[in-house]
Amino acid sequence: MQINVLIAFYSRYGNTRALAEAIAEGAKEAGNVNLRIRRAADLAPEELISADARWVKAHNEMTSLYEEPTNDDLEWADAVFFGTPTRYGNPSAEMKLVIDKTGPLWVKGKLIDKVASVFVSTSTTHGGNESTIIAMLNPLIHLGMVIVAPGYADPIMFSAGTPYGASSVSGANADKPPTKDDLIAARFQGRRVTERALMLKLGREAMASS
Ligand SMILES: Cc1cc2nc3c(=O)[nH]c(=O)nc-3n(C[C@H](O)[C@H](O)[C@H](O)COP(=O)(O)O)c2cc1C
Repeated sequence: MQINVLIAFYSRYGNTRALAEAIAEGAKEAGNVNLRIRRAADLAPEELISADARWVKAHNEMTSLYEEPTNDDLEWADAVFFGTPTRYGNPSAEMKLVIDKTGPLWVKGKLIDKVASVFVSTSTTHGGNESTIIAMLNPLIHLGMVIVAPGYADPIMFSAGTPYGASSVSGANADKPPTKDDLIAARFQGRRVTERALMLKLGREAMASS
């Protein structure tokens, strides 16, 4: 059975992006996966971006690699991973806008029973990784999505990530990429969540034909 997986993330400097790519690797391990990786557009004013050479470089690279997530992508997906850097313990405005555009899907119940999972990057160890993931879950619950988190379902969860979702700590200058273990935890989340989405899809088909 084929399964459609969407990874929708925002990243300014590339830390959340690195987690997104590791999640993609894990998702692919789950079987016949059709994958879309999308990056939410920058919302900051042009003068703010152009004053920061690292941001400009990352922006140019990422906009050339990834399309922006759309409601069509969300409707297409069986499982959706949402990734965001923290903003004072909350999701970024860029990812919030992706969510805020889902009104037409919510009205028609189009996201009900799709599997959802969240990952995050912060600068500091206790800088809001878990609170950001939980804040991101609020709208996903309203949308009727089935939340699947890593939990402690793999030994890697005892040394990296969080049971709520993969995470990385990028340091004061956001220049410390995810560690090897952060990426292993993200890959585990990708596989686990995709497998659960597959189980749900198979179960739904079995119930429909019984
Ligand atoms: C406005 C703003 C608020 C932030 N708030 C926090 C925070 O509360 N705690 C924290 O650890 N990092 C905070 N950060 C840092 C980023 O979340 C962090 O650098 C992240 O790793 C960047 O990921 P990216 O490279 O994918 O953009 C903040 C950054 C900005 C721009």
